[in-house]
Amino acid sequence: MRPTVVLIGPMGSGKTTVGRVLAQAWNVTARDTDHDVEASQGRSISDIFVESGEEHFRRLERDAVRRALAEHGGVLALGGGAVLDEETRALLAGHQVVFLRVGLSDAVKRVGLATSRPLLLGNIRSRVKALLDERTPIYEAVATFSVDTDGRNPDEVADEIRRHI
Ligand code: S3P
Repeated sequence: MRPTVVLIGPMGSGKTTVGRVLAQAWNVTARDTDHDVEASQGRSISDIFVESGEEHFRRLERDAVRRALAEHGGVLALGGGAVLDEETRALLAGHQVVFLRVGLSDAVKRVGLATSRPLLLGNIRSRVKALLDERTPIYEAVATFSVDTDGRNPDEVADEIRRHI
């Protein structure tokens, strides 16, 4: 089985879309931990944050990463904050981990003003900036390599990843 290729990076870096493009090109399946968490809980991520809190969400996310890595050999897109959790980071050791870089303007454009993402409510631009500043060093430390996504469409990003893997 081909090893799992894990995509990490901020909200708006295109993890889910690039994951689908790569999976199609490699003829493997694409998975997405946000989707897995929502499906296993039968409620949206926003509802999980509001009703149970971020810490609880991170535990569910960690379980989803563990399950996906154990069951799966395709492309796995993580939620933007998954690598904040130390145990989740440890699960990624030995896998091919790609950091999709994105700058502030493109990230804000892609998440859109109508986002339902709970961590962006309020002033979207300043929230995105704070998350990028805080998390970029973590993405860099965890990734095997990184790819720039600014001004590029998912096919171009996927092509660059395929040249590396
Ligand atoms: C989050 C990113 C979201 C989702 C949740 C929290 C984060 O995933 O997991 O809203 O902490 O950055 P995407 O990166 O797929 O939007």
